[in-house]
Amino acid sequence: MIRFVDVHKSYRVDGKDLPALQPFSLDIADGEVFGIIGHSGAGKSTLIRLINLLERPSGGRILIGETDMTALGDAELRAQRLRIGMIFQHFNLLSSQTVADNIAFPLRLAGERDAAKIRTRVDELLQRVGLTEHVNKHPSQLSGGQKQRVGIARALANRPSILLCDEATSALDPQTTASVLELLAEINRELKLTIVLITHEMDVVRRVCDRVAVLDAGRIVEHGSVADVFLHPTHPTTRRFVNEALPEEAAGEHALYAHIPGRILRLSFRGEATWTPALGRVARETGVDFNILAGRVDRIKDLPYGQLTLAMQGDGVDAALATLREAGIEIEELAR
Ligand SMILES: Nc1ncnc2c1ncn2[C@@H]1O[C@H](COP(=O)(O)OP(=O)(O)O)[C@@H](O)[C@H]1O
Ligand SMILES: [Mg+2]
Repeated sequence: MIRFVDVHKSYRVDGKDLPALQPFSLDIADGEVFGIIGHSGAGKSTLIRLINLLERPSGGRILIGETDMTALGDAELRAQRLRIGMIFQHFNLLSSQTVADNIAFPLRLAGERDAAKIRTRVDELLQRVGLTEHVNKHPSQLSGGQKQRVGIARALANRPSILLCDEATSALDPQTTASVLELLAEINRELKLTIVLITHEMDVVRRVCDRVAVLDAGRIVEHGSVADVFLHPTHPTTRRFVNEALPEEAAGEHALYAHIPGRILRLSFRGEATWTPALGRVARETGVDFNILAGRVDRIKDLPYGQLTLAMQGDGVDAALATLREAGIEIEELAR
């Protein structure tokens, strides 16, 4: 769907080229929610703005379907951009216009002049984002979450096939963030829209994304399914992001386990394995003792998962671990 081929990007500042994105290639599949996570300045906005060519790459190609975006003339590019909606951290609404006019704006921009058609489409969009009663308000009369819903309705107006979200929930409180993410997930499911979402919060990735790329100082240092990256992060930057979401497993905390006898193990359960009583059964059968040091059961998008840190001791530990692995439980031994 979206394909970056050997893309890189530098900004020219005071006669010097400053690299913002090192050469990378990346494919984003049709219909997925793809997350890009990174700290401030990592190059996230640059990367997402390359997709609709709000920024031009310094080299390489960007393909959407079969279309090479980097080869288009101005008129063709304008037409392609109608297929790509975008929402922003600070909403970017027109403050002097009503909710209805903000949502109608891209329809008018695309050449629609029929007032009845515009009205019908605006009503549909208001219903989709749950703002029907707010149609005649101005942005200053709305909460942050409501403003972002207007932003989403506006982005969807021309029925795009791609929605780009640049830190769309970063200005919102946790509860409002959850409801906006739920709306994005619903739009992805029901409209089969491809969503590219950038964020600095692992929790946002965990709740809605299918796959994720981790951006660190202009480089993609890790990418894969959210479950793989979240349960088994390999790059130090990814580990820090994951640990923010799992504070009890914060980096360096393993030292706290130094005085605890036995082997320190982290068990990851995915899907059905999350609910099976494997641990108790294996302990009975092999006679090992275990002690739970940290743990959490939650969901990665729709996938239930559990992650437990255990101290395990006894003669049967190796046999116990072999049985747990056979049951589909992923096991890592933590260094101490
Ligand atoms: N228009 C620009 N001109 C010059 N430098 C820029 C411009 N936009 C971004 N940068 C620089 O590129 C780097 C990546 O920025 P950005 O993509 O905005 O990161 P993020 O969205 O992850 O915070 C930063 O060092 C930033 O200062
Ligand atoms: Mg940014």
